Formats: sequence, C-alpha cells, structure tokens
Amino acid sequence: MKRIFSPLILGTLLIASAATLFSCRQQNTATSEKQPKTSVKTEVATETNTEAIAEKAAAEAALKEGEDIYTKNCQSCHALAPPAKSAPPIIALAAQYRSMYGKKKNAVADMVSFMKEPAVGKSILGSKTFEQFGLMPALSMPDEELEKVAGWLWDQYDPNFEGGGDCQ
Ligand code: HEC
Repeated sequence: MKRIFSPLILGTLLIASAATLFSCRQQNTATSEKQPKTSVKTEVATETNTEAIAEKAAAEAALKEGEDIYTKNCQSCHALAPPAKSAPPIIALAAQYRSMYGKKKNAVADMVSFMKEPAVGKSILGSKTFEQFGLMPALSMPDEELEKVAGWLWDQYDPNFEGGGDCQ
C-alpha cells in the first residue's frame, strides 16, 4: 500500500506545485504586461510622429527624384518655363493639368499612360500644339519613374503663370 500511495502523494504534490507555479507565472506576466502598456502607448504616439516625418521625407525624396528624372529624360525637349524648346514647357503643362484634373492621382495616371504610348486621342492639349511640336515620342522607362516625374510635373503648378491654352 505504501508503494502505491507515495507516488500518488508525490504526484499530487507535483501537480499542486506546478499549478501554483503556473498561476504565479501567469500573475507575473499579467503584472509585467501591465506596466509596459503606458510605454507602448507612448511608443505608438512616437511611431505616428515618426511615420508622419517619414512620409514627408519620402514625399520630398520622390519630388527630388522626379526632378532628377526630368533633368535626365525630359529637359532636352521640355523647358521648365517659357520660352519653349521643342515641346510645351513644364509649367504650362502643369497649368493645363490643374485646370482639367481635380486629383493629382488621376492626372499622374493619365500622364503615365500618355508617356508610355502617346496618342492624340489621349492628349489634354489642343491641335495647335501638335501642329507646332508634333507628337511626343514614347518613353520606355519603368512605371515607377514615370509616376515620380509625373507627380513632380503636377507639383510644378504656379498659380501666377498665365500661359495660353496652346502651351507656348
Ligand atoms: C523628344 C522630345 C520629348 C521628350 C524627351 C519628352 N517629351 Fe513630353 N512632349 C513632347 C512634345 C513634342 C509634346 C507635345 C505634343 C504631345 O502632347 O504629344 C509633349 C507633351 C508632353 C505632355 C503632355 C501630354 C498630352 O496630354 O499631350 C506631357 C505630360 C509630357 N510631354 C511629359 C514628358 C515627360 C515627363 C518627359 C520626360 C520623362 C517627356 N515628356 C519627355 C516631347 C518630348
């Protein structure tokens, strides 16, 4: 009888102590979890700030990249401001896009589509522009770069610019 009992008692003791340990651990985790919560909250708050700062930095970087893409790939034809080279100046185009589109996103999407495959039917410009400059050649550049340069173009809008609708 003793032999059967002692493992039983030992077992019960073991389970009991394990249970106490377990509950203690749980309590410990509960308390230790409670404390950092305030610091998590502060972390979240800082993270939002960091995110806003990071977003602004990303937007500025994209704008700078857009300008670099323009200098490399567009400037030979598109001057920034009048007089025009062999294509309408950028600020004239920006003014035209602003007058026709409410959202940058939509203007950028249409610019990208145009630059990849220019067509008179897709153009926002009048027929006079085509008589003067001809149709723009298609650009084989990654979509990402086209989007950046289109976003940059949209941002070149100058409310004081008074160009004609024929983009001279
Ligand atoms: C070889 C000359 C040339 C280069 C390089 C060039 N363009 Fe053009 N682009 C033109 C001409 C010409 C027009 C006017 C006729 C037309 O719209 O197709 C034009 C028109 C446009 C238009 C107006 C589209 C419309 O609705 O008619 C946009 C936007 C534009 N270019 C953006 C760009 C950007 C951005 C780049 C560089 C990534 C670029 N172009 C490079 C010649 C060029």
